Amino acid sequence: MRTTTQLTTADRKAALPAPQGRPIARSLSGEAPDLRAAYRLCQRTTRQHDPGIYALIQLMPAVLRPGGWALWAAVSVLDDLADSRDAEPAEREARVEAWTRALQDDLAAGTSTDPVRHALVDTALRWHLDPSSLQGAMTSTREDVRGRRFADWDQWRAWCTEAVVPWVDQLRHLFEQAGAPMTLRLDRHKDYEQFVDGAQLTDILTDLSTDLPQGDLLLPHEALVAFPGVEDDLRQGRWSRAVAELIGEMTALARQWLSQPTMTRGMHPGAAIVFDTAADLMRAQLDAVDTAGPALLKRAPRPSLVVRTRILAPARLRATMAWSLTSLTVPGPRRPGVTSSRPCPATEEAAFRPPPPHRDGARPPQIAADQMPSHVAIIMDGNGRWANQRGLPRPEGHRAGTAAVREMVYGALETGLPHLTLYAFSTENWKRDTEEITTILEAIQHGLDEGPIRDLDVRQRWLGHPDKLPEELVQTMRREERRTRNRTALTLTVCINYGGRDEITRTAAALAQAARAGEIDPRFIGEDDFARHLPHPDMPDVDLLWRTGGEHRTSNFLPWHATYAELHFTPHYWPDVDRRDLWQAITEYSRRQRRHGAAPLTTTRSTVQASR
Ligand code: IPE
Ligand code: IPE
Ligand code: MG
Repeated sequence: MRTTTQLTTADRKAALPAPQGRPIARSLSGEAPDLRAAYRLCQRTTRQHDPGIYALIQLMPAVLRPGGWALWAAVSVLDDLADSRDAEPAEREARVEAWTRALQDDLAAGTSTDPVRHALVDTALRWHLDPSSLQGAMTSTREDVRGRRFADWDQWRAWCTEAVVPWVDQLRHLFEQAGAPMTLRLDRHKDYEQFVDGAQLTDILTDLSTDLPQGDLLLPHEALVAFPGVEDDLRQGRWSRAVAELIGEMTALARQWLSQPTMTRGMHPGAAIVFDTAADLMRAQLDAVDTAGPALLKRAPRPSLVVRTRILAPARLRATMAWSLTSLTVPGPRRPGVTSSRPCPATEEAAFRPPPPHRDGARPPQIAADQMPSHVAIIMDGNGRWANQRGLPRPEGHRAGTAAVREMVYGALETGLPHLTLYAFSTENWKRDTEEITTILEAIQHGLDEGPIRDLDVRQRWLGHPDKLPEELVQTMRREERRTRNRTALTLTVCINYGGRDEITRTAAALAQAARAGEIDPRFIGEDDFARHLPHPDMPDVDLLWRTGGEHRTSNFLPWHATYAELHFTPHYWPDVDRRDLWQAITEYSRRQRRHGAAPLTTTRSTVQASR
């Protein structure tokens, strides 16, 4: 019997984009009745709660719409729980918390008895979303119950980033998983956040008539002080000159934030249409706010049907055309009982591919187990010079370098190396220009999203600090860490925004914190205590540290772990390196004598002397 969530081949065909010109087939037709009903409920909830969002979701390919409804219905349910007038704040908070906790349990179980959560769990598992990133947003909704006051725009923006951006990010991941990435360039992230701020401000202005009677005035004090008396007027529901001026200024600000003409550059055209139409609808909404006058404090204004149709009709046409030209990836059937956050190692193992063989058929050397390093760390250097040598811009070198990363992983798996650590981006590399930084980080993101490494028995870990990194990259790395955490053949640690001194400083701070909390006595702090407070306390010492590109320095790489590493420097630029170079490095390592401060073995020395 089919489980409630499996897709048959027919379903999958139905979910694929239709050939050009024909409407996309309904993607839910083959689902079990309870799941279909759950998604339909989400669809209705979204349509009733937020017709604008509903119209935008209709611009998505049919196969992604149910996911859009599920996400938005969840937002609506949580908002309703937080705002319901029939309960005291403490009770409302408890309801939001209970819903959030139930979602966690449902995600672990892979199903739910609540229809909105059922649909959300199905979407998350089917499309490999990471709903844990919504946790902060849900906590923020819970805290909204106590009422919000913002001193300035910075506080307001922090709230918006915490409460709204994670939901929009989930939609973006949905597109990404389907192969129509809404990927933002690194230098466009601020534009994106400002765009979401613009959307939030538009919503707040629209909903004044419902928020104010509940005591919520969600504009920062900094914005209100410029209009004396405005706060009182608003709280009393009085339409005054000050109110009119404030509204005029706020709508102008929202319009400015929504104008991010370069944000969608490089996005899939269909995804860009969704963003552009969202901006058009919100601008129309702001026009409606501007023209509402005193009625703004009585009911939420809406743009007229004519205006909406003028925006949506051509957008629908363009979106249909864009999607009809795109072949989307539809996820395979969900394995019953397997959740995205807890992969089942036994089932996974069967699916692991062996690494593809070396193009010349080269095989790894035979090295005695006790001569093998456990941990090889590589400073992947020389990308820029490799590109210069060929008259190419430096970013091309970083793109070319990704092939060498794959080679290292294949070589490590073939030779049975358990730990490989790669230095991809240092805390000092921020000194480079934006174009180059963007390419390096995009190459990393691309490797994580689409890399052939995904299906190998490789546990991926990230070492470094999230500061300044694009949120999307951080989320992807965290997701991959979770997804691969039960894999065993190779632990691949990628150091991104990593600096050895930064690591040591943070570890020292963690120790100081532990001492202050009385968990550790500073008089007895030893090396083991320090090691336990490192970001990855289980990472073993480096046996072999290899740098390509001809430089003979360690550039702030793993100072704690590599104090006794054997050093290996080679002249070739990183993009020219392949797995045979790793094997060569390991072979040389196997011939070295490591002493760790002890005296050389006397037997060896006397044998050598005797043979001279
Ligand atoms: C290493 O190559 C990659 C990173 C530092 C991210 P480089 O970009 O340092 O290349 P060179 O050393 O300038 O040739
Ligand atoms: C070290 O290379 C950092 C990485 C490989 C990620 P750099 O090229 O940045 O090092 P320096 O500046 O030559 O020491
Ligand atoms: Mg370099």
